[in-house]
Amino acid sequence: MEALNALKSKYLNAVSEAVDETSLEDLRVAAVGKKGEVSLKMRELGKMSPEERKIAGPALNALKDEINSALLAKKVALSDAALNDRLQNEWLDVSMAGRPRRRGSLHPISQVTEEIIAIFASLGFSVAEGPQIENDYYNFDALNIAPEHPARQEHDTFYMYRNENDDRAPNVLRTHTSPVQIRHLEENGAPCRIICPGRVYRADYDQTHTPMFHQYEGMCIDENISMANLKWTLEEFCRAFFNVDDIELRFRASHFPFTEPSAEVDIRCSWVGGQLKIGEGDDWMEILGSGMVHPKVLHAGGVDIEKYQGFAFGMGIDRLAMLKYGIPDLRAFFDSDLRWLRHYGFASLDMPNLHDGISR
Ligand code: DAH
Repeated sequence: MEALNALKSKYLNAVSEAVDETSLEDLRVAAVGKKGEVSLKMRELGKMSPEERKIAGPALNALKDEINSALLAKKVALSDAALNDRLQNEWLDVSMAGRPRRRGSLHPISQVTEEIIAIFASLGFSVAEGPQIENDYYNFDALNIAPEHPARQEHDTFYMYRNENDDRAPNVLRTHTSPVQIRHLEENGAPCRIICPGRVYRADYDQTHTPMFHQYEGMCIDENISMANLKWTLEEFCRAFFNVDDIELRFRASHFPFTEPSAEVDIRCSWVGGQLKIGEGDDWMEILGSGMVHPKVLHAGGVDIEKYQGFAFGMGIDRLAMLKYGIPDLRAFFDSDLRWLRHYGFASLDMPNLHDGISR
């Protein structure tokens, strides 16, 4: 009994003074582990007389239980203390002012592209895309631009590198978005109503030209399409895009290999004190090329030309952005000057006059 009391006070004291879980575990092993002091004592029970065992057995069991519950209680107390400690030290002042972070902005070209897509979507057009590295066939031949046609030179085409003895037709950086017309017709056939915004490339550089710029192509093919539909569509677009009710367009006969007849379209405007006003004044500004899609182009796209015809047009997105938002120099679009981007950029939720100009 003496010995058991000594064991009891030895371990209960040690447990109460333990400072962490490892020392608790060490104590558990030393007391009630397989070879722990209490366990060894239990093994001795076998050698005792039945009378001795009757007293020593329950006493040892009670001691074992007592030590186990002291260990458990201490473990809980230690983890509570650790948690309290963290709560004390790791607090966060949620009322503190945040660090200011500058927001990015939408580039005017992205903004204008979104505006164009939204306007045409409300007229039932969907968006089609094509590759920027295009082959000669889609960029020229299929659009009725023959190899000797001056347009190949006029477009200042970038040709992709070919090995010296590679005589396959060259790939080019597409010079316009018109090849998407063919790709779309090949895949989807007629009827269709699409716009195709994207990057195009020409070797040219001055205040109004950059080697990469943006265009979008529009195409509508169906059974009874005429120039009248083209005119209405472009007027509706300009009215909505420039947010001016009284816009006036002028169709000038022109020539494009992929349309017949072809027209360049000017918009009535005025320049007063360097300020451009759309829809009034005595000036005209060219904004796009258009026409009725040439039968050869329809044919290249696999369209039944007895049944279908349609119109197409192409416009510069950068130029539209310059006109609408008064941006004077095209090159600045691509300089990545943060001050410029902050000045001309748009908040991500800015969507000025998208659908409101469309008359139904
Ligand atoms: N592809 C022409 C260009 O880049 C623009 C154009 C003109 C597109 C007339 C058309 C069109 O679809 O009908 O200059």
